[in-house]
Amino acid sequence: MTPAPEPALDLLIFGGAGDLSLRKLLPALYMAHLHERLSAATRIVGIGRQAWSRTEYLQFVAGQCPPFIEPSAFSGPAWATFLDRLDYVAMDVGQPEAYEKLKLALRVQAQRVLYLATAPSLFTKICANLSDAGLIGAEDRVVLEKPLGTDLASARLINAEVARHFQERQIYRIDHYLGKETVQNLMVLRFGNAVFEPLWRAPYIKSIQITVAETVGVGSRAGFYDGAGALRDMVQNHLLQLLCIVAMEPPISLDADDVRDEKLKVLRSLRKMDADSVKQDTVRGQYSAGASDGQAVVGYLQEANVPPDSRTETFVALRVHIDNARWANVPFLLRTGKRMQSRRSEIIIEFAEQPFSIFGKTHSQQPNRLIIRLQPEESIHLGLMAKEPGSGMLLQPVELGLDLQGSSDKRRAEAYERLLMDVIKGRLTHFMRRDELEAAWTWIDPILQAWQTQGDKPRHYPAGSWGPSTSSALVARDKLQWFEDA
Ligand code: BG6
Repeated sequence: MTPAPEPALDLLIFGGAGDLSLRKLLPALYMAHLHERLSAATRIVGIGRQAWSRTEYLQFVAGQCPPFIEPSAFSGPAWATFLDRLDYVAMDVGQPEAYEKLKLALRVQAQRVLYLATAPSLFTKICANLSDAGLIGAEDRVVLEKPLGTDLASARLINAEVARHFQERQIYRIDHYLGKETVQNLMVLRFGNAVFEPLWRAPYIKSIQITVAETVGVGSRAGFYDGAGALRDMVQNHLLQLLCIVAMEPPISLDADDVRDEKLKVLRSLRKMDADSVKQDTVRGQYSAGASDGQAVVGYLQEANVPPDSRTETFVALRVHIDNARWANVPFLLRTGKRMQSRRSEIIIEFAEQPFSIFGKTHSQQPNRLIIRLQPEESIHLGLMAKEPGSGMLLQPVELGLDLQGSSDKRRAEAYERLLMDVIKGRLTHFMRRDELEAAWTWIDPILQAWQTQGDKPRHYPAGSWGPSTSSALVARDKLQWFEDA
């Protein structure tokens, strides 16, 4: 028997000439092509405003994209066959008539993936125009890039509008952190190892820290970033998603809804912040001039296109509680910032101290810590106490370390490649469901509102530091320290 022909797929990228396409989406699709993960019948259609021909678009892509591809993976012949898959449609996505032209460029029988990598303000218009033009089939999929809204009301509006044209099973809300190898590995660490589960709860855990620190500043993105700030840009999505995976109950299976049901419960158990707790438990910072990677850098207010009186936060630290049986009284300490001392994303599980030490008070005993580093390197370390060599019974801290990158020769795909392949294969587990997104905004909204009402400015911190000193004070209340201070 001859095998069934592979289904034809048209992958449309709205915003096909934009930054995200050039830096992430097209390089990820090239890698999938290079490793023969795309069927022969997959075509990629870039959609943009620029009145280019296909040849001009290919020239543009060929000029812009390769620097974002790992040099060792760049192969001339593979790149040429990748470009053969690409097409371009020049159109104004706000104009309903333009979709007739788009229709002509698509294959009637092909399944469609509609990737909306445009400004979110265009999402609902694009969906409505696609629908009016009869371009949405029952099996087609839409991918929505963050930010999905700027608060609960706007997120609800986008969700409701998109739901008029797509069923929930067709909607892929991207959070690229969920595509990272190490983030996916967190589930395996927690649920594939019997040793952790009995201890993964109060009172055996004293605190959990989640840090996502970047050394970059706002760069050329002030137009977007100044209206968003770190809470919306990083906490509402990436940090809360990490928190969910660390804190959720074991799902009954890896099916998308089973996993998403558990994450939703975590979001719904987050202790709501009121005006007082926002004062007590949140810290906002904004970087001032300093040094980053040894180079002098300007402060946020001096960056291009940032208003000189901007109060946008580039750093946030939060002290959060999850009100359920597993996590009663365990502080979760979250922080993220730009222009921090080093680029580092990590989760630190600090275990409770021993109730009684046979070694006596004179021997300093550090708590055991599990350090899960997500980037730049991918590793897991467990801090233990061991005997210091020599006579007597002196204790010293030691570490068990696992380098996850070095532990396998297999290629580790980038987050976007992994997530794009999930969309193509129809796997929703690593995408946010509508109720999850809205639950995250429900928790974030009161913080945004209280910051606005309180009207105080974010604290300045020098570029190249670990944020304002109030961030250390925030955790000191629980007699804790941020990990790099410990
Ligand atoms: C994006 C934010 O979602 O994540 C950026 O909009 C941030 O501001 C980026 O720099 C960080 O992603 P990563 O994968 O480099 O940690």
